[in-house]
Amino acid sequence: MKLFLDTADLGEVRWASQAGLIDGVTTNPTLLNQHAGDVEPHDVLKEICSLVDGPVSAEVVAVDAEGMYREARELAKLGENIVVKIPMLEDGLVAVRRLTADGIKTNVTLAFSSVQCLLAAKAGATFVSPFLGRLDDIGHDSMEIVREARLIFDNYGLETEILAASIRHPRHVAEAAMVGADVATIPTGVLKKLLLHPLTDRGLDKFLNDWSKLVARTRVNVES
Ligand code: E4P
Repeated sequence: MKLFLDTADLGEVRWASQAGLIDGVTTNPTLLNQHAGDVEPHDVLKEICSLVDGPVSAEVVAVDAEGMYREARELAKLGENIVVKIPMLEDGLVAVRRLTADGIKTNVTLAFSSVQCLLAAKAGATFVSPFLGRLDDIGHDSMEIVREARLIFDNYGLETEILAASIRHPRHVAEAAMVGADVATIPTGVLKKLLLHPLTDRGLDKFLNDWSKLVARTRVNVES
């Protein structure tokens, strides 16, 4: 499963990319508002594109098909790796069909059901993003949507990639991987948690400690 970083923070993107931990980045208007400061959002997106060897999702804010199409064409000029995020609306799917015909990659965002995922795939989207955390927040079993979408896409040979979004904790990542999501987009805090386990730290402390004892003992033996 590919891992994308869900952020618009350049420092976080630089860190995760240099560490070789990520295959792409997703942004949205909220994340740009949080992290861009006074910098023009298109400049932030351009910089992210240069830092990452993989898809970078940038979202349109128009909500009519023509507006989304025009905005998407502008966003696509920011980098060769731009994927345009289009909201899951009837007009959005019209825009996705046109953009796909133009060879522009798309990510249909704000998907909350498997049939919305099916519609996005039929429109030719490159990715579709079911929002797991937001579904769990209202008492749904978010993983069911990923499971259903996986089955539907496999039944019909649909090539759209399922991008598990709105990830809140490492179990979301593990479960999305087990039910066959193609990608998970993860906030930096969760990505850091994926690296950690207390038994790893405890085990390493013991190995290093025992090695020091061994070295001290064998030195003594050599000297005596
Ligand atoms: C990514 O594509 C989504 O915009 C993001 O994962 C949404 O996450 P949130 O529900 O934590 O805002």
